[in-house]
Amino acid sequence: MKILVTGGLGFIGSHTAVELQNAGFEVIIIDDCSNSSEKVLDGITSITGITPLFEKMDLRDKSEVQRFFKKHSDIEGVIHFAASKAVGESVEKPLLYYENNLNTLIYILQEILKLKYSNIIFSSSCTVYGQADTMPITEDAPVKPAESPYGNTKQIGEEIIRDTCKVTPNLQAISLRYFNPMGAHSSAMIGELPVGVPQNLVPFITQTGVGLREQLSVFGDDYPTPDGTCIRDYIHVVDLAKAHVVAMKRILNKNNKENYEVFNVGTGSGSTVLEVISSFEKVSKKSLNYKIVGRRDGDIISAYADTTKANKELNWKAESSLDQAMKSAWDWEIKIRS
Ligand code: UD1
Repeated sequence: MKILVTGGLGFIGSHTAVELQNAGFEVIIIDDCSNSSEKVLDGITSITGITPLFEKMDLRDKSEVQRFFKKHSDIEGVIHFAASKAVGESVEKPLLYYENNLNTLIYILQEILKLKYSNIIFSSSCTVYGQADTMPITEDAPVKPAESPYGNTKQIGEEIIRDTCKVTPNLQAISLRYFNPMGAHSSAMIGELPVGVPQNLVPFITQTGVGLREQLSVFGDDYPTPDGTCIRDYIHVVDLAKAHVVAMKRILNKNNKENYEVFNVGTGSGSTVLEVISSFEKVSKKSLNYKIVGRRDGDIISAYADTTKANKELNWKAESSLDQAMKSAWDWEIKIRS
């Protein structure tokens, strides 16, 4: 079965391509390499022994998207990762984000509706919940007004798919709402490759540990949490990748209950920033240079998933601990800097 992975050279996309190939799927990757490198293909090949088909393409070019799907009309499912994801940049360049994240989704939906199989998994985010009123967060929690154009593209993306599913029974779709992905493949052949100064916590920690950054700033220790720092649900990227494989199998095997479904993908437990730092210190046997600074604008206090629905319906559960995920992130950081 042929599965298209858009953004398949990116962080989550590349790990998902590996898990799809491990599960016996034929993978085609589209990526524009704007935030990734063709070298990632070598990593996927070394892990799986198979080089996925690859087309370098800008999905904002509608005629290119049409050409691609005419050529590959036997595609049975699409996992759509390709998107811009920097929250701060999205505030500066809203139109770029709406174009990159929404036009591409619309073009793909238009084309897969012409195929024999119209199956799609969409990369959504726990950002749609904002600061949820109760923890852990279930899929029924209200979607809150988006804090940024990036967050809004995830909400609107879900709405585009939901509305299309309503009038198109043939379309089968699942949105996966990711919590905080981290880590790397255990082989250290693929991992996260942030461009410039990392905005996310874990790559900033590992880059500080390896000496590339001087010091980690911990954004606030006066939140109403056990140690005063924010709580997030950090999920190993390989666990997250496996969730895509089971979600795709669910729609391919017609085990889905409705033609549009939403699942949280997290571990179900929250960790504070200081707990993440101590996990790093434990697995790396290094002490991390950090200091407490003021709160970061737009940060929510706490977000962790209720994963009951994914556990039950997808028969999926995150397996790695925070320490295991951190160890993989650290091994990867050491490997790319050596
Ligand atoms: C961020 C994005 C979110 C996106 C997610 C993907 C924002 C506001 N949100 O979420 O939309 O889906 O990444 O992974 O950017 N921290 C520090 N020091 C740092 C970096 C982070 O203390 O240098 C803290 C933050 O305050 C936060 C936690 O670490 O409490 C996690 O931060 P981050 O990795 O940026 O993820 P989110 O803010 O949860």
